[in-house]
Amino acid sequence: MPDDQVVVTGGSKGIGAAIATELAARGHEVVSLSRSGTAPVGRAVACDLTDEAALVAAVAGVAEQGSIASLVNNAGINVAHKSSELGLADYEQVMRVNASSTMLASREIYPHLKARGGGTIVNIGSFFDKVGVRHQLAYSASKAAIAAMTRVLAVEWARDGICVVNVAPGYIRTELSEFWQNPKSLAWIEERVPLRRPGTSQEVARFVASLLGERNAFLTGETIYIDGAHGINH
Ligand SMILES: NC(=O)c1ccc[n+]([C@@H]2O[C@H](COP(=O)([O-])OP(=O)(O)OC[C@H]3O[C@@H](n4cnc5c(N)ncnc54)[C@H](OP(=O)(O)O)[C@@H]3O)[C@@H](O)[C@H]2O)c1
Repeated sequence: MPDDQVVVTGGSKGIGAAIATELAARGHEVVSLSRSGTAPVGRAVACDLTDEAALVAAVAGVAEQGSIASLVNNAGINVAHKSSELGLADYEQVMRVNASSTMLASREIYPHLKARGGGTIVNIGSFFDKVGVRHQLAYSASKAAIAAMTRVLAVEWARDGICVVNVAPGYIRTELSEFWQNPKSLAWIEERVPLRRPGTSQEVARFVASLLGERNAFLTGETIYIDGAHGINH
């Protein structure tokens, strides 16, 4: 029975797949949760994280396979809308996938981490939690909510030996989305990001894996930006 399972939400592609791959390479037993139920490494469980009953059942199923040591709340979506035209359904869907699933997965994993005397929860936020970005009201609000949850959970669960850290990336070049196909996007990134390039999924993954590997108990409740200094650039 594995005794150090790491649950990664949204491990089927993008940053989550890179995190799963990096953690597996470092010897962790990785279980990915996503709608497609696929993963580049480890085990994969199909679960729509907006479905509370499905999420509860998925975590219980993972716990039956062995002890859970850590959780990476990575799954997320981004839907751009003019705020003046943003419908409640679109707003709520972004909040459900990004923020509510982080709350639910953390709540469900908590007793398992507590039972083994502690563990680590890494949330994946975004630097949009501290900047004003046009047409990104729902996404930015969801990421600010994740930063707030990180602080609250860190304070509540510190005595259970549980560290909660929010890793907040800047622009990360994942798959060939419309944004990255437009040459203007890269030119804009070069001008705006002091490092003059987007980050890679592997850079985020290495940092997340180092947080789990080091388990520095005094580092908890914080949001750490990994954005090539974009968010602090004047
Ligand atoms: N890429 C960036 O520039 C960037 C920057 C800052 C922060 N982030 C954050 O990093 C995280 C990963 O982003 P990414 O760029 O890697 O996105 P991505 O490539 O679109 O991957 C998103 C992941 O979330 C899963 N997912 C989406 N909705 C789900 C649902 N309802 N239930 C279960 N799983 C669901 C997807 O799997 P299925 O489709 O199989 O369900 C997929 O594995 C997100 O939280 C995002 O906000 C990304």
